Amino acid sequence: MARKNKRQFFEEVEVIDAGAKGKGVAKAPDGRVIFLPYAVPGDVVAVQTFKKRKAYFEGKITEVLTPSPKRTTPECEHFGVCGGCKWQNMGYQHQLFYKQREVENNLKRIGKVELPTFIPILGSEQHYFYRNKMEFSFSNNRWLTQDEIDSDRDLGDKNALGFHIPGMWDKILDIKKCHLQEDPSNAIRLAVKHYVVQNGFEFFDTRNQSGLLRTLMLRTSSTGEIMVLLQFFDDDREKRESLLDFLKEEFPQITALQYVVNQKPNDTIYDQEVVCYAGRDHIFEEMEGLKFKINAKSFYQTNSKQAYQLYKITRDFAGLTGNELVYDLYTGTGTIAQFVAKKAKKVVGVEAVPEAIEDAKANAQLNGIDNVTFYAGDMKEVFNKDFINANGKPDVIITDPPRDGMHKDVVEQILNIAPKKVVYVSCNSATQARDLALMDGKYKVTRVQPVDMFPQTHHVENVVLLEKR
Ligand SMILES: C[S@@+](CC[C@H](N)C(=O)[O-])C[C@H]1O[C@@H](n2cnc3c(N)ncnc32)[C@H](O)[C@@H]1O
Repeated sequence: MARKNKRQFFEEVEVIDAGAKGKGVAKAPDGRVIFLPYAVPGDVVAVQTFKKRKAYFEGKITEVLTPSPKRTTPECEHFGVCGGCKWQNMGYQHQLFYKQREVENNLKRIGKVELPTFIPILGSEQHYFYRNKMEFSFSNNRWLTQDEIDSDRDLGDKNALGFHIPGMWDKILDIKKCHLQEDPSNAIRLAVKHYVVQNGFEFFDTRNQSGLLRTLMLRTSSTGEIMVLLQFFDDDREKRESLLDFLKEEFPQITALQYVVNQKPNDTIYDQEVVCYAGRDHIFEEMEGLKFKINAKSFYQTNSKQAYQLYKITRDFAGLTGNELVYDLYTGTGTIAQFVAKKAKKVVGVEAVPEAIEDAKANAQLNGIDNVTFYAGDMKEVFNKDFINANGKPDVIITDPPRDGMHKDVVEQILNIAPKKVVYVSCNSATQARDLALMDGKYKVTRVQPVDMFPQTHHVENVVLLEKR
């Protein structure tokens, strides 16, 4: 009997769709679906499978026999090895088409609710260099390409400053140029790498948990301000200060130069003390005259320009006249709440992370907004009867939950208080569709508009207006 997971080779299959976490979709001769990374709909390819399940194969392209007309040349030299930007080989208009289709499919198949005609997906003007935050890791165990492994060349030092190879926690791809964040992002990363290699500073060894340098985080903003945060493992003051002084001198435009010494096994900085070495401990982001103070741990939408578009759509869907009580659920640092405040009587924001709520309050004060109130806590606990009694019944609820969507108790509570309108912003249209189905008895979906916040990836944001039946 043939082994279940036996690899199969298909000489010629056509790629018919894109979706499924960014993978292309083809059909095997037995009708089973094959998921193919880096395949573009319209490609005719030869395929080697490496995983077989009841309804599908996972495979990889061994040869592109006929390239799809939807293909384009990726900008980035790291395409195909680095885990990000997997759709770079598909023309941007086609990326938008498949993003919108995924949203439509999810709302139809999972939501099974009556839908209006979609407002066409809003694309991003910037197809590259749109991110305001990047994090790079140091490693003494650089990812080697097959070419390098096969060659007899001296491979030089094994240090890397870049991104984790997908699925490999201890392998880092050394990044020469990343197309996601505007300069001086690349210039700073390359200068740091050059300086520490020249000076023989130790890159982190993940297996042995040793070394000096762990991560580099860069934040840029629409105001032109720059934050650099270096994370060290060893507490070596002399080396640390020599690197920070080098950066201070070489890049005087850095607004906030900070560091963390973290000797925990994991490299999250959220439970660590961030030390300001030079300049301020924050930078500012600006949107429609509002200022947002961002420190190293603050959450802020990573594509500022598209966040502005997303918020405008959200405000437009809410249709505020100035008399409404608005709830902004999952408010983060209260950006949507402040963005809609001047068109509302009052806005109440709720968010789980207490530091984000502190930022939200500070920003509201900074912006002179006095008709917003913020609460910290788990939504399903906070958003209860007493909360509604204390804050009043909202006319409009804006909700922007994480990928898992809303907790069923939160959906139930929305149905209990039944505001006239609910504007549902989501980064995962599958969980959004599930929640829309739960609300279908009381609410009709009247407007839908997907927004592309992350060109070159399969991710898509979606805004839905629900109106009371
Ligand atoms: C998609 S973000 C929305 C952020 C914000 N609306 C914005 O545009 O910047 C989702 C937010 O929900 C928060 N969150 C996640 N789980 C939560 C929970 N159970 N209760 C309250 N907030 C939660 C996260 O901390 C995060 O800030």
